[in-house]
Amino acid sequence: MKFDILTLFPEMFEAVFTTSIIGRAQERDQVEITVHNIRDYALGKHHVTDDTPYGGGGGMIMKPDPIFYAVEAILDIEIPPIGYASFLEQGYPPIILLTPQGRVFQQSIARDMLKHDRLIFICGRYEGIDERVRQYLVTDEMSIGDYVLSGGEIPAMVMVDTLTRLIPGVLGDEHATAKDSHSSGLLEHPHYTRPYEFRGHTPPDILLSGHHANQEIWRRQESLRRTHARRPELLNQVDLTAPDQQFLTSLAEDAET
Ligand code: ADE
Repeated sequence: MKFDILTLFPEMFEAVFTTSIIGRAQERDQVEITVHNIRDYALGKHHVTDDTPYGGGGGMIMKPDPIFYAVEAILDIEIPPIGYASFLEQGYPPIILLTPQGRVFQQSIARDMLKHDRLIFICGRYEGIDERVRQYLVTDEMSIGDYVLSGGEIPAMVMVDTLTRLIPGVLGDEHATAKDSHSSGLLEHPHYTRPYEFRGHTPPDILLSGHHANQEIWRRQESLRRTHARRPELLNQVDLTAPDQQFLTSLAEDAET
């Protein structure tokens, strides 16, 4: 998988992309991440990347031309006046604008995005971005949640991290992502490790019983319990087994008594 990130602040990515799982995935050539400075594609002596809005209103708007030039240089193409859409149809990579106006990123969207072998992210900044970038360049707009950050850089890191750990072979244990919160549609069960006793608190006996089948049942039930307590709406989108349903019914009955 290849990620290209277009930003005005490339230095923000250094630590996140060289550390831990993403750093290792790059070393092993499982992902290739290139961070491009939009300023390098701005014409003129001062490499201006933003300007005041037509019609007034204050604030600064990201100019369209450096962003188009950056994409054209990265992909070695010339985008016609009708826009980038025809390139997408030919198999060129999606171009994703990070903005609080986009559709909200989720684990299921991440899984779907893995069908592409390359993704381009544009990190929005300032008060906004010239609308022609939206109309004639980007193919998707994504938000990481209903709150406003200073720019799209952290959201781009969030998406690259989420996608990278889903790439087969990136995590040591092939099955590790299957149990992640949200992967199965449920929140993850609690975990415990040594010491056995910490300030008088010990793990549930079942985890030390050595009875693997019962431990599996416990994990599933704790996952259901946590999801029911914290994010009950998620249960509507999960394939629940008959034992799952029975357990949830017993939780509801316990709550009534
Ligand atoms: N830029 C600013 N806030 C954002 C958000 N919540 N998601 C994506 N991009 C953003």
